Amino acid sequence: MKVILETNRLYLREFMSADGFHFFHLNNDPDVIKYTGNDAFESLEDANNFIKNYADYKKNGFGRWAVCLRSTNEFLGWCGLKYEVENDEIDIGFRFYKKHWGNGYATEAAKACIQYGFNNLKISEIVGRAYKANIASIQVLKKCDLKLEKEFLYDNKPAYLYTIKK
Ligand SMILES: CC(C)(COP(=O)(O)OP(=O)(O)OC[C@H]1O[C@@H](n2cnc3c(N)ncnc32)[C@H](O)[C@@H]1OP(=O)(O)O)[C@@H](O)C(=O)NCCC(=O)NCCS
Repeated sequence: MKVILETNRLYLREFMSADGFHFFHLNNDPDVIKYTGNDAFESLEDANNFIKNYADYKKNGFGRWAVCLRSTNEFLGWCGLKYEVENDEIDIGFRFYKKHWGNGYATEAAKACIQYGFNNLKISEIVGRAYKANIASIQVLKKCDLKLEKEFLYDNKPAYLYTIKK
C-alpha cells in the first residue's frame, strides 16, 4: 500500500486492485455520477480493468487517490489531481459514497491534495470544474480557496471553472 498523505481523519493512498469493487459501486449510484459526466461501469470486470490500466501515477507522478478513514481503514471515495493533456491543466476532483457526504471529507481531502500539489509536486496552478447545479462540489472548491475564473459550457451544460495559484 502506498500512502501519499494523511490528514486529521483520513489517509490518501494509491489505488490498488481491490478498489475496482468500490469504483463499480460508486459509479453505480445515479446520484453520485449525476454531475460528473461519467457513466456507470457495465460490470465489475470493467471497473477492475479501469484500475488495472490506471496509468497516471507512472505517467505524471500523481493522480486521483483512494480516500480512507484512518480509524477504520474504510474506503470512503477518491480525491486527487489529474493532469489533463488537452488543456495542459491539473484538475482537483473528488467522489465519495453517498453515505459519507456532508462530513467534510471532500474538503479535508481536497485541501490536503492541493497543498501536496503545491509543496511536494511543485505545481503552480490547480483548477476545479463543476456544473452550476453541483452545489456541493462548488462549495468544496470554495472552501479550498479556489476562485471563480469563468463560466463555460461543459458537455453543453453550464459549468464553472475555479482556479487556485500557489
Ligand atoms: C461533491 C462531494 C465530493 C462533496 O463531498 P462531501 O464530503 O459531502 O463534501 P464536504 O462535506 O466537504 O462539503 C460539502 C459542502 O457542500 C454543502 N452542500 C451540499 N449539498 C448542498 C446543497 N444542496 N445546498 C447547499 N449546500 C450544500 C455542505 O453543506 C458542505 O458545505 P459546508 O461545510 O459549508 O456546510 C460529494 O457530494 C460527491 O461525492 N458527489 C458526487 C460526485 C461529484 O459530483 N463530484 C464532483 C464532480 S465536479
